Amino acid sequence: MNQTPDKNAYHRPVMVDEVVDLLRPVPDGIIVDATYGGGGHSRALARQLGHPILAIDRDPDAASLSAGVRARNFRDLASLLEEEGVDEISGALFDLGVSSHQLDEPARGFSYRTHGPLDMRMGPDAATAAGEMVNEWDENDLARILRTLGEERFADRVARAIVRARPIRDTVQLADVVRDAIPAATRRTGGHPARRTFQALRIAVNEELGALGSGLDAAVDSLTPGGRCVVISYHSLEDRIVKRRFLSGSQGCV
Ligand SMILES: C[S@@+](CC[C@H](N)C(=O)[O-])C[C@H]1O[C@@H](n2cnc3c(N)ncnc32)[C@H](O)[C@@H]1O
Repeated sequence: MNQTPDKNAYHRPVMVDEVVDLLRPVPDGIIVDATYGGGGHSRALARQLGHPILAIDRDPDAASLSAGVRARNFRDLASLLEEEGVDEISGALFDLGVSSHQLDEPARGFSYRTHGPLDMRMGPDAATAAGEMVNEWDENDLARILRTLGEERFADRVARAIVRARPIRDTVQLADVVRDAIPAATRRTGGHPARRTFQALRIAVNEELGALGSGLDAAVDSLTPGGRCVVISYHSLEDRIVKRRFLSGSQGCV
């Protein structure tokens, strides 16, 4: 991983004013930024609200941007809070998905637009790189993750094409195989034809949905009365997990 990323170009944070406004009413205390990235949200929260920030990112590139950012997976938030001696938090922010730095760095393998290795690991804690799934997984297992994590209508066709094209060594080679497997009429709609396959592989490689469930549980369970948890999610699978967790967290409260 790149150890000297440019802090300014790392990531442009989204919805900064909304995040600050949503966390403005929380009581004094620590706000967890579970997805530090380029630190834009952390800096805005610290500057505008004055809360101490406990920042986390599983990517060592992000964690190296600022002293004190914990290079951890938010899946382990409960144990991290315990290690830090933090019993309660006032707020938490999860800005899910990948940063621009991760997408724009070809060596990370997240982008279907530039040549890169089939990696897609957000951090060293991810056990399996995308290349292993693409080149070694059983066709049915591949089709299953394309369907469930990529919501790819043509999951079976894409999985079959991937298995036939092995070995696939590179992101653009994979993107071309996927594009050719998708019917021409569909290729012209809904963005790049490889987008859903890359999303599925990335979520699987990083076990993102399991991490989200555990991280949210820890954050919501640690909130002080009046505390808030804010999540910026980018697709329906994340959205569903967040809504369910917030709904169950709100039941039984007075
Ligand atoms: C969209 S970026 C966050 C950008 C950030 N809010 C900012 O202001 O620059 C998402 C970040 O979350 C990190 N991330 C994703 N899943 C994570 C997890 N399970 N644990 C810790 N960090 C995670 C990624 O490495 C990436 O740096």
